Amino acid sequence: MNEEASRIISSEENSNDKIWDTALRPQNFAEYVGQDKVKDNLKITIKAAKHRNEPIEHVLLYGPPGLGKTTLAHVIAKESGANLRVTSGPAIEKSGDLAAILTNISENDILFIDEIHRLHKTVEEILYPAMEDYALDIIMGKGPSARTLRLDLPKFTIIGATTKASSLSSPLRDRFGLVHHLNYYETSDIEKIILRSAGLLGIEIDNNSCKAIASRARRTPRIANRLLKRVRDYSQVEAEGHIDTDVCKRSFALLEVDELGLDAIDRKIMEVIIEKFQGGPVGLNTLAAATGEEMATIEDMYEPYLMQLGFLERSARGRIITEAGYKHLNVSFLGQNSMKL
Ligand SMILES: Nc1ncnc2c1ncn2[C@@H]1O[C@H](COP(=O)(O)OP(=O)(O)O)[C@@H](O)[C@H]1O
Ligand SMILES: [Mg+2]
Repeated sequence: MNEEASRIISSEENSNDKIWDTALRPQNFAEYVGQDKVKDNLKITIKAAKHRNEPIEHVLLYGPPGLGKTTLAHVIAKESGANLRVTSGPAIEKSGDLAAILTNISENDILFIDEIHRLHKTVEEILYPAMEDYALDIIMGKGPSARTLRLDLPKFTIIGATTKASSLSSPLRDRFGLVHHLNYYETSDIEKIILRSAGLLGIEIDNNSCKAIASRARRTPRIANRLLKRVRDYSQVEAEGHIDTDVCKRSFALLEVDELGLDAIDRKIMEVIIEKFQGGPVGLNTLAAATGEEMATIEDMYEPYLMQLGFLERSARGRIITEAGYKHLNVSFLGQNSMKL
């Protein structure tokens, strides 16, 4: 397991989550909390397609990890009464692998391709005619005598999921009739998700404890569920299974997760910028060296949430900790040197 996946507040999926997910994953739109706009649109899409007796158009779901893309793909399949087949970009190594999947597809099936931005270019090209014309082009032979054989495919739907819509090639992106962006959840929705999960797992939890967990969940369902589980573990060992705000507080102190969901490494990054670089700006490579973290890890894993909280800014000259960031760490802010900005 890499370091990021083992962080308690990581939004990446780890092997533990997978076992859990089956129990907690919403099965239909009614159980799927929040994302109302996306749901409303999809409901219409599904209804209209049913009316025409056709599969729904290809759907691209994008958004940060842990917000419910995989879950939504399952819900769409269930709600439209379609069979779901699941694969992922990195799992399809050769174009032959994809051809094998496609020739096994039946009318109205949904093929879910997770991490679709990681498809190999050659594999991706097989998808174009499959998505556009429900056809599979097979090249027979090599060199000048090579011929293309076109196989018809049944009408089916592809649902693609990606955390990086920008790294999807535009010919692929253009072939999705429907593109939906999943956003971070409202805290009230995260609370609903925690209560639902607690109910399913037989965990008794009061409103204030639920709020305490929700405020640390980084507006992400996967993290909310994981924190709930860690609090339950703690309560079983230290409080005879009873959960209240004090138990929550103690378990979060042990996990070093603060009231906004920042962990020790988030805080270390901010502290290093403040203490060693007077609040910045500091370049990413210097920051990586000073914290002992990798550049890509800082950029992709830590900074997005710190920026979302308004604690860190990226400027042309480097990273800066904002006044709000100082305040969160209880360090007095002497004003950002305007020359630095
Ligand atoms: N809208 C939602 N309502 C309730 N639970 C959700 C919702 N979205 C996600 N979850 C929970 O969070 C977990 C992670 O969601 P998942 O679909 O795997 O995220 P993604 O594929 O975007 O990384 C799921 O197992 C599910 O239990
Ligand atoms: Mg997923």
